[in-house]
Amino acid sequence: MKVLVVGGGGREHALCWKISQSPNVKALFCAPGNIGISKHATCVDIKVTDIDSMVRFAKAEEIDLTIVGPEIPLSLGIVDRFQEENLNIFGPNKAAAEIESSKVYSKNLMKKYDIPTAFFSTFYDYEEAVNWVKEVKPPLVIKADGLAAGKGVIICHTEDEAVDVLDDIMRSKIFGDSGNQVVIEEFLQGEEVSFIAFTDGENVIPLESSQDHKALLDGDKGPNTGGMGAYSPAPIITPELHETIMNQVMIPTVRALKQEGREYKGILYAGLMIDGTDIKVLEYNCRFGDPEAQPLLMRMRSDIVPLMNTISKGGVAQGDIQWYDRASVCVVLASKGYPGDYKKGFQIDRIDDVNNMDGVLVFHSGTSKDDSNIVANGGRVLGVTALGDSIPDAISAVYKAVNHIDCESLYFRTDIGKKALKYI
Ligand code: AMP
Ligand code: GLY
Repeated sequence: MKVLVVGGGGREHALCWKISQSPNVKALFCAPGNIGISKHATCVDIKVTDIDSMVRFAKAEEIDLTIVGPEIPLSLGIVDRFQEENLNIFGPNKAAAEIESSKVYSKNLMKKYDIPTAFFSTFYDYEEAVNWVKEVKPPLVIKADGLAAGKGVIICHTEDEAVDVLDDIMRSKIFGDSGNQVVIEEFLQGEEVSFIAFTDGENVIPLESSQDHKALLDGDKGPNTGGMGAYSPAPIITPELHETIMNQVMIPTVRALKQEGREYKGILYAGLMIDGTDIKVLEYNCRFGDPEAQPLLMRMRSDIVPLMNTISKGGVAQGDIQWYDRASVCVVLASKGYPGDYKKGFQIDRIDDVNNMDGVLVFHSGTSKDDSNIVANGGRVLGVTALGDSIPDAISAVYKAVNHIDCESLYFRTDIGKKALKYI
């Protein structure tokens, strides 16, 4: 098979690394890809939003299967376009991807189908939103309806703060049209977990559990980022909780979407807040998590390609995914200043040494080449990922590797995976 992966971050590096090992794949392309990805795939200089060029490339190269990494092309309808052209593509269509691209849509879906989520209300009108904020007590959470690169969710501790945030989103339009509507919801306590599954629109095949670290600083302090590290498995997810999540969230969500005429095929990711035995959905994503994909794919024993190919062709997703009985931890190295402004161009040394360490891989997110050197070129730059026989083993292995990377402009959290230790 000839396979094309759409995207160019750490998640797509992990996907390309995994897909390139499939005996089913004879040629692998990635658009636009990155320097790390170029070791496993031929990188093609097409932006993820340039769907016309993606279609042209897939036709010219006679690609058998296209796999979409990020949410933006999915929300733009890349799957619909490929299918109109009779091209085989893995991912939800535009209507189904709205489960991520519209928070108003996903909250209303959960309400209609009794899927547990935080108490909420939605608003088009600024004045009505302000009045509601005055009625309910903070803390509360304000969410811009549309995609906002992970920045559209703001936790407000006081009424004044909430009114300011509504002003920014609904009047000043700091997130553009994504702020035409907002969701305002109750603040939930607990621990966040990522629950990711394959679905053919009917059957749900769960992946192993994982947990992201969204906050910038140790101890979950500081601003939210795209994710500063992740680990798998997440031992907070007991077999009982796993069953509850499947029965109360994953299966009902897939059935609800089908009932609504938006059959969902692809990867469905539920971001959950767990408080004891109480589970609530914070959000859905229509794709693999980044960085969750990195530790998950390192643990996956099964070939991922046949399942993706079956689902993309409208077949029935069957069987279980096989996993290595090991733990995996990914630590993200980000440019100092991220998620705010940061400088680019600092040289990164010793990536190859780290890749030669046993059970360790360096996934690239934001790097480029300057002469023969690799330099930092983005907010999140690298995702160093290590396997271990247990979570503590994987933590020691990953930090040994991270400390070996030499670059003056990179920052990382020092407590990735620590949250898991209280459960083992
Ligand atoms: P979302 O994009 O909706 O997942 O929100 C981004 C992040 O904001 C989540 O990962 C949580 O850390 C936080 N968050 C969102 N909704 C809530 C909530 N209702 N209560 C507490 N934290 C929340
Ligand atoms: N790691 C969170 C996300 O992919 O949205």
